[in-house]
Amino acid sequence: MMLNIHSSTEPTQHQFGNRRMLVAALGIQTFCGSEILNNCLSRVLNFDASMVRYQSSDISKGTASNVREGAVASQRVSVADDIRSGHRHELSLEGFIEMTDQADHNRFENIVFDDFRRMALDESLSPYERIGFPDSYRQGKEQAIFEDVRAKLHGLDQRGKIVLDIGPGCSELPLKLIDLCEEMDHTLILVDSAEMLSRLPDKRFIKKVAAYYPVCEELFKAYSGKIDVILTYSVMHYVFAESNVWDFLDQSLALLAQGGAMLIGDIPNVSKRKRFFSSPRGIAFHQQYTGTQERPEVTFNNIERSKIDDAVILSLMMRARQQGFSAYVLPQSDDLPMANRREDILIIKP
Ligand SMILES: C[S@@+](CC[C@H](N)C(=O)[O-])C[C@H]1O[C@@H](n2cnc3c(N)ncnc32)[C@H](O)[C@@H]1O
Repeated sequence: MMLNIHSSTEPTQHQFGNRRMLVAALGIQTFCGSEILNNCLSRVLNFDASMVRYQSSDISKGTASNVREGAVASQRVSVADDIRSGHRHELSLEGFIEMTDQADHNRFENIVFDDFRRMALDESLSPYERIGFPDSYRQGKEQAIFEDVRAKLHGLDQRGKIVLDIGPGCSELPLKLIDLCEEMDHTLILVDSAEMLSRLPDKRFIKKVAAYYPVCEELFKAYSGKIDVILTYSVMHYVFAESNVWDFLDQSLALLAQGGAMLIGDIPNVSKRKRFFSSPRGIAFHQQYTGTQERPEVTFNNIERSKIDDAVILSLMMRARQQGFSAYVLPQSDDLPMANRREDILIIKP
């Protein structure tokens, strides 16, 4: 079968089996290396990368950072979608391939603190992309997220508190927190990279600490036992993959004042994800998302390197309890974008 996609000035949508892709003019192309294009194609088309071969290998070299919206090829690509049946699809791609939602999601996998620093300064990214989310995960949803956080951290609605946000990022969420802190006369301490913090406003009640938490001695010297509210939202899984969650937790507990509370929010729990995607609702959700009848792939009893599961969530909660704090695992409000696979831990110093 021969599929010819011709470039056009406006992006046009093409359907490959059950995958969508947008193709537009070469004038907006982003070049990338063949490995990235290969990866992209395999994700967009859902083919095994090892089965994608280039008849022409003359693809301009680039770096991962300039492939943010996809890959470009004016190449002839030969794709064998099923080696056993011997079916072969020939694609002549001319133009710009925008990633599907899934591929869009995949490009933010495995990012580390240094990637966030680079992304914070990347003017071609949206505010959501700078903090590692495809727009579809956050755009129009941060008010609901903020309300959910506020409902769990009661200290935010009292007056004159000391509030710490670890890893605030730079989308609307920290801006909403800044507004509330101003209104309630709180002191707000923000800890993130200098690059990320440079995207947030400077105000008299805000103290910015450019650091990789908890590597910030001065903060601990000045604020041990004094902080009323700690928020760390959508950060713990990066700490889990990159450094030491126990140190992160213990040091944070040491900062809490009597009656203070810490919300470790938006933790992706791979066990919860598996429970959801093996349930009838999860299967229906997946089928609606992909526009197919395929069932989500769920594998139990396998090693999930760098992923947080029930064991980690419950251990964090247990460790806080063992150290004299009340700790709870809380669901997210249903209207939050990833409520079906993420949850929060609330810790309170009695
Ligand atoms: C996914 S973003 C979440 C941003 C924000 N909390 C939100 O939910 O909108 C993760 C943020 O945490 C920051 N971060 C990750 N690890 C950190 C650490 N150990 N110390 C401080 N910031 C960290 C990243 O730079 C990034 O801004």
